[in-house]
Amino acid sequence: MQYDHPSHPDGAAADWTIPQGWSAYSAQDHATWDLLFERQARMLPGRVAPEFLAGLDMLRLSRPGIPNFDELSDRLMKATGWQVVAVPGLVPDEVFFDHLANRRFVAGNFIRRPDELDYLQEPDVFHDVFGHVPLLAHPVFADYMQAYGRGGQRAARHGAIDKLARLYWYTVEFGLVRSDAGLRLYGAGIVSSHAESRFALESDSPNRLGFDLRRLLRTKYRIDDFQQTYFVIDSFEDLLEQTLETDFGPLYDELADAPDIDSETILPSDTVHTHGTQTHARA
Ligand code: PHE
Ligand code: FE
Repeated sequence: MQYDHPSHPDGAAADWTIPQGWSAYSAQDHATWDLLFERQARMLPGRVAPEFLAGLDMLRLSRPGIPNFDELSDRLMKATGWQVVAVPGLVPDEVFFDHLANRRFVAGNFIRRPDELDYLQEPDVFHDVFGHVPLLAHPVFADYMQAYGRGGQRAARHGAIDKLARLYWYTVEFGLVRSDAGLRLYGAGIVSSHAESRFALESDSPNRLGFDLRRLLRTKYRIDDFQQTYFVIDSFEDLLEQTLETDFGPLYDELADAPDIDSETILPSDTVHTHGTQTHARA
């Protein structure tokens, strides 16, 4: 997801894809992946949704080094019909939506530098592959991502990409899900971040509110720090059903004049799992 207007890179295909160039990774690149992987593999059990761990396992993402996208796509294709394709960086919204609508996930092929383990300006292969791809092995989540791509194409025709992008942000990137044992992480922006994996679940600072589609489409978000609010879905099935069954066309019209909601606001109509102190945001 991105909001600027990248220009088409030399040598990329018309759909912005490039070869992954797996053999060009250095030993240090692979070591960076391994380090990030091991940190998160220790962090996530008991915090992440079990469906994510099942995906990691099934896709055998744990073998040493940066995964080869062709091998990964073979396994993913068998599970849910998805592929992973390489891009050099951010791509325009229409390109992104078209790939998702055709069950192709675009992943940056580069990896962060060793002095940037915890801070990234653009999503790299660790965020994109470790963060996003495991849940693409889950049939319901896989369908949700494709539906989102089609929804993006519709939103573009309604001039409502900014509103729909909030749904992606608060689910695919920063979502939490209920389980019998308590809240669990599933958003890729959280699960690929060592610090936010703890913060999102354990800090007193952020709000944790029940998923409410209309409300969420109006809610601003932060790109520069941990989120001030996380939204909690009941299940992936419920997320898919609610978003598929809602015709967003009339919703965009209805919400066109509704004011945005600030990222820390709690409304009387919200289902509140945690009323955050916001001490982190205010510090
Ligand atoms: N039902 C939505 C629409 O009418 C499409 C959509 C599905 C959007 C799933 C997001 C996620 O546009
Ligand atoms: Fe992402």
